[in-house]
Amino acid sequence: MKLLFIGDIVGQPGRNAVKTLLPKLREQHALDVVIANGENSAGGSGITPKTAGEIFAAGVDVITSGDHLWDQKEVMELLASEKRFLRPLNYPAGTPGQGSGVFEVQSLMSKVQSPGLIAVLNVQGRTFMQPPLDNPFTLALEEVKRLRERTKIIFVDFHAEATSEKIAFGRFLDGQVSAVVGTHTHVQTADEQILPHGTAYLTDAGFTGPHDGCLGREIEPVIKKFLTGMPQRFEVAKNRVQLHGAVIEIDDASGKAIKIQRVEEAI
Ligand SMILES: [Fe+2]
Ligand SMILES: [Fe+2]
Repeated sequence: MKLLFIGDIVGQPGRNAVKTLLPKLREQHALDVVIANGENSAGGSGITPKTAGEIFAAGVDVITSGDHLWDQKEVMELLASEKRFLRPLNYPAGTPGQGSGVFEVQSLMSKVQSPGLIAVLNVQGRTFMQPPLDNPFTLALEEVKRLRERTKIIFVDFHAEATSEKIAFGRFLDGQVSAVVGTHTHVQTADEQILPHGTAYLTDAGFTGPHDGCLGREIEPVIKKFLTGMPQRFEVAKNRVQLHGAVIEIDDASGKAIKIQRVEEAI
């Protein structure tokens, strides 16, 4: 199975990048499934049924999220009814929505299994992150055990700030899942690798949106905030729109990763 994971989609430019570039990427990499982090898809903060709908219509199969989950109140609708939308697993019990899902892969290119099943898991880190959630390590391990009863093909979006926490998390799940890819920093790292027990790993996928800015926002207000300490309005930037992510090839029978390749595609 071959999947593309797309890093945090920021605002309208990010959604537009997915719409424009995904058909070409699907064909070029013979993709079976596409997963994207959508936590910044609505005006740079949060996600709504409308922006999620646009992302699904563009060809994304599953949307993950992170600490910007609650920024738009309309997210409640997604959490209540959209099975293809995931929120971090490690919220307290009783929080609406789900942290994982098992999905049937329709357009399976590989011939081994039909239909293919992929599990997607969304987890949030705790180091330098708000709000403080439950332990991602222990909860993810329990969840992975449960998911492995249905499929060995498991993709994990670990939404976290600290590289140490992300690397430790990847090492912790090495051999238990097909891939651990980080999100949240919006800066793509160059440490893609297959860990010793077969898990593809990348500390951060980067973000999809305008790269002529500060993490997808206009530069001036961000500098002003650092200069004055006063809150500013961070508008989504406009220029140098790119799609960032990673293509991962997984062996269907073992669930182990065969290859991971970073993606950085200009619109
Ligand atoms: Fe983000
Ligand atoms: Fe985030």
